[in-house]
Amino acid sequence: MNLTATAVGKRYGGVHALRGVDLAIPERSIVGLIGPNGAGKSTLLKSLSGFVVPDTGTIMLDSLDVAGLAPSRIARARLVATFQHATPIAGLSVLGNVLVGMTEKHTGGLFAALCGTPGYRASERRQRERALELLRSFGLERIAGLDAGGLSFGQLRLLEIARAVAAEPAILLLDEPAAGLNRVEIDRMSAAIRSLRDEHGMSVLVVDHDVPFVFGISDRITAMNSGRVIAEGTPAEIERDDAVRAAYLSVGGDS
Ligand SMILES: Nc1ncnc2c1ncn2[C@@H]1O[C@H](COP(=O)(O)OP(=O)(O)O)[C@@H](O)[C@H]1O
Ligand SMILES: [Mg+2]
Repeated sequence: MNLTATAVGKRYGGVHALRGVDLAIPERSIVGLIGPNGAGKSTLLKSLSGFVVPDTGTIMLDSLDVAGLAPSRIARARLVATFQHATPIAGLSVLGNVLVGMTEKHTGGLFAALCGTPGYRASERRQRERALELLRSFGLERIAGLDAGGLSFGQLRLLEIARAVAAEPAILLLDEPAAGLNRVEIDRMSAAIRSLRDEHGMSVLVVDHDVPFVFGISDRITAMNSGRVIAEGTPAEIERDDAVRAAYLSVGGDS
């Protein structure tokens, strides 16, 4: 599935959070979105996923314009976002958390479920196997039985993404997935995101402040500043882009 956003605009009172933003997420690709604080990155992610209603623009998922549709409707069109501070369900195992995220219907409905018919049990088994496979690609298989409430911060971030992937989106939007992770955890996160593209055929949009992380995993990068796109290209092109350098230098940091 391809996403093509065109001329997306959003104002909050006097603040122009997005001023005619264009963004493409090609099929089976990892796209990085960078820019200083306040550039409009989170507002763009929320507009794409329906948590913010943009004032202008179109957001095409293949031939469907999802601009202004509800998050649940957009999720059914197979675009899903995770945001900072989303937390897995404590009191439920790591595996249980992923199973909750799955949308596959058990065969046979309530009667079959209550009676535990063979068809129902087979479908339950398949789902469990798929969930374990997903946990394996995120390096969480060994802790599948642990209570999600007891995980480290890094493990929680990975589980949060595994839960989102369980719903089988075609496009996944990640807002700052590496925030608060150490180098080892960031490498694991990078591997997990690559496996979404390479093994699950998904596209991923990654927003993060960690420049080496974003440049290391992205096929293409869009750079924003003050609600506008200031550059788009391969990581190598963006790295030597004057407008990007100026935007980062003007805020004097790595944000
Ligand atoms: N709910 C909101 N109400 C008012 N202003 C907002 C809201 N969300 C974001 N903004 C403003 O919009 C601009 C872009 O914010 P944001 O999209 O969060 O940027 P980024 O994620 O790139 O740091 C900022 O000036 C921010 O203060
Ligand atoms: Mg943000």
